[in-house]
This record gives sequence, structure tokens and C-alpha cells, in this order.
Amino acid sequence: MALRNIVKEGDELLTKRCRPVEVFDQKLWDLLDDMAETMYKADGVGLAAPQVGILRRICVIDDGNGLIELINPEIIKTSGKQEGTEGCLSCPGKYGITVRPKKVTVNYFDRNGNAMTAKGTDLLAKAFCHEIDHLDGILFPTHVKEWLE
Ligand code: NI
Repeated sequence: MALRNIVKEGDELLTKRCRPVEVFDQKLWDLLDDMAETMYKADGVGLAAPQVGILRRICVIDDGNGLIELINPEIIKTSGKQEGTEGCLSCPGKYGITVRPKKVTVNYFDRNGNAMTAKGTDLLAKAFCHEIDHLDGILFPTHVKEWLE
């Protein structure tokens, strides 16, 4: 495993729409391992592949309840609303208040290519939205209604 450099806001890589993963191989597993290590080292709740310069639909999340690896994730259902603080490892020092769904259901593939479904509430729901936005080139400032000092 190895730490990867985190791409910062302003880099064009963060504005691109990422392509789906088609091959579930050792290269993907190495990337997932590196992404998790990089996320934990940076004390993040999530990390998306474009943040390490890879334009593929991959993200890792740990809301404190264990690592989730999401490949080709798609939000299939949302409900409710939550308002709270949001930040991003690509936007160091920037925090703002966003409104996100309270509950989010996601379809995705695991590292072996198995189709999975996950449901998230509160922080996990916010992380699903934030990380999947990254895969479409969207950063959280788009959703900020009020910036925090
Ligand atoms: Ni982010």
C-alpha cells in the first residue's frame, strides 16, 4: 500500500466526469487499498478516485462504522433533509453549511464485481452524496449556502 497525493481544488482533474470501472483486477484493488490508506492518513470520511488523479467511478468512505468501497455507485433513492457542516480533503480549511438528504440508498459494485446496495443515514448519507458528486466533477462548494469562518 502507498499514500497517494490528494489533488486540490483548482485542478482540472476535479471537474471531470469519471468513467465507469470495467475491469475488477489487481490494479483496482491496489488503488482501493491506497485510497483507504490516504483517506485514513488525512483523517477524512471519504475519498474519491479523481482526488488521487484517477478519473474512474470509485470512492471509499468510512463514517466511523467501517470501510465501504464503492465502485460505479449510483444513488437510487433519497429522502428527508439534513443541514450541517461539510468539508473536503481537496479544499483544505474550507467549511460550509450544506443541505443534503437525510437518507440515501446507493447501488454499487464491491471490489470483486458483486452488485451491492447500501443505505446511509446522516453522515453516511452526506458522504455518499459528496463522494458521488466528485465522480461527476462536482465539489461541495456548489452546495454551500453559508460559509464558516
Ligand atoms: Ni471531497
